[in-house]
Amino acid sequence: MNEYKERVVYQIYPSSFKDSNNDGWGDIQGIISKLDYLKDLGIGIIWLSPIYDSPMDDMGYDISNYKQINPRFGTMADFDKLMVEAKKRDILIVMDLVINHTSTEHAWFKEAIKDIPNNKYRDYYIIKDGKGDKVPNNWDSAFTGTCWKKIDGLDNKYYMHLYCDTQADLNYHNENVILEIEDIMKFWLDKGVYGFRCDVINNIFKTSLQDDSIFKLYNKGEKFYANQKGMFDILKRFRTEVLDKYNCFLVGETGALTPEIGREFLSSRALDMFFEFDHIYADKMSKIPVIKSDFQAKKLVEPIFKWQEAVPWIANYLENHDQLRSVSRYGNEKEFYKETAKMLCLFLLSLKGTPFIYQGEEIGMTNVSDLKLEEVNDCASLSTIKTVQKLLPVSEEKAWKMINETICRDHARTPMQWDDSTNAGFNEGAKTWLRMNNNFDKINVKNEIEDEDSILNFYKRMIKFRNESDVLKYGSFERQIVSNKICSFYRTYKGRRFLIILNFSDDIETYWLKDKLSLVISTYKEDFHLNALPPHFGGIFEVI
Ligand code: GLC
Repeated sequence: MNEYKERVVYQIYPSSFKDSNNDGWGDIQGIISKLDYLKDLGIGIIWLSPIYDSPMDDMGYDISNYKQINPRFGTMADFDKLMVEAKKRDILIVMDLVINHTSTEHAWFKEAIKDIPNNKYRDYYIIKDGKGDKVPNNWDSAFTGTCWKKIDGLDNKYYMHLYCDTQADLNYHNENVILEIEDIMKFWLDKGVYGFRCDVINNIFKTSLQDDSIFKLYNKGEKFYANQKGMFDILKRFRTEVLDKYNCFLVGETGALTPEIGREFLSSRALDMFFEFDHIYADKMSKIPVIKSDFQAKKLVEPIFKWQEAVPWIANYLENHDQLRSVSRYGNEKEFYKETAKMLCLFLLSLKGTPFIYQGEEIGMTNVSDLKLEEVNDCASLSTIKTVQKLLPVSEEKAWKMINETICRDHARTPMQWDDSTNAGFNEGAKTWLRMNNNFDKINVKNEIEDEDSILNFYKRMIKFRNESDVLKYGSFERQIVSNKICSFYRTYKGRRFLIILNFSDDIETYWLKDKLSLVISTYKEDFHLNALPPHFGGIFEVI
């Protein structure tokens, strides 16, 4: 069955969704208490960011036990209850599968670094001798700096960590590792989950460990580990040995893609869909992502259109837990806050592929305007800030400004804003693990439910429209205009043709129409003329 092609996905970041026991952390019972809200929104699938046992150095993307629930989030009984309650509401649950690395607190890693003969677990990880007193090669961590850390108590041995230094990369040349992961997948699929979002999945197989060019600015080593044949073989094996026995799907997090590789993921059935990362540079430099640039609609829309044309199916998103808030990045938070949030919603939900909405996006949550370095929890920002200071070199204040404007993931991770009571109804007043965004008195679910013209109510309308529209679900894609002002595209299915028009500018724009159109849904309540599209207008028209 193809539920994943017909439903809208909502990503929950469990630490920040709803805290039911007032300990400052969101939890599974909190999620259960909000299932009716999600049902009412029109959501058909929930992607849960990791809820497994973890020391939380990278907020759960550092797993210490794949078959246990992090006590911060509850118990396995809570999870089982979540499955039952979600099923009652016809909502499917997708888990995050983080298998490139484990936490260094994982039992496998603790065994691997024991100095004992024939250590079975040593080969579960990428553990190598240093080159004299230097690290084994010149590769980088995605969070900057070397990807090697010396192991205490072992003679000149290092482990690889492509992310933070408590996330040790697994060795996929080892058959036992593959079998362990298959076992983990089965464990959750047997509990009824509907598949996995596969974390940094195209990096799992390292073909060679040789040095990369010293001229590569960052992610040195990538050509030896991104999109390797060995990775495709493993994913294909997961498909035939495990996934084909269940009704489920895989969505991959896949940086560094080309259209050819994207097509290979789908045609080989290694993945059912993937997230591309080309459009995230619409407001920063792709070569040096800590340098901000002015937002240009073309730099957002052109790569999205490129991917719409390149593959038959894709995972569409504007936000997730690693990106800054979309209305702050691509919208106009000050003068056209509601208009831009609604237009982005219409854009996301009318593309070909599965739409992914990130918690809070549906109420127009924004970046934190006064976030201070002392408050930051995000390990990637904390590590990158040191590198920026060293390489550029700039003061800590300047480096923080750069990080804050471009990559600081905490902007998207502040607790969900449910109402205007203490801590926005996220909990009952206990100190939250990450500070609240102060604008919750205005931006919150309760206010928006009451306001007929709110962003939330527009999301509801738009999701309902998509859920019921064969043209949006199954239609083909054809680009029309890409500019920094107007962008437009067609979706066509069985003789019905929609034209989607977006005005990215703060001004009234003229759209020179060639087709005869009738308005189906738009972000504006008031009447308008097509040759005078209001600022940040978004609309779907039927071509007649
Ligand atoms: C992915 C996750 C991110 C995490 C990283 C390492 O990019 O989305 O949050 O830090 O992988 O697991």
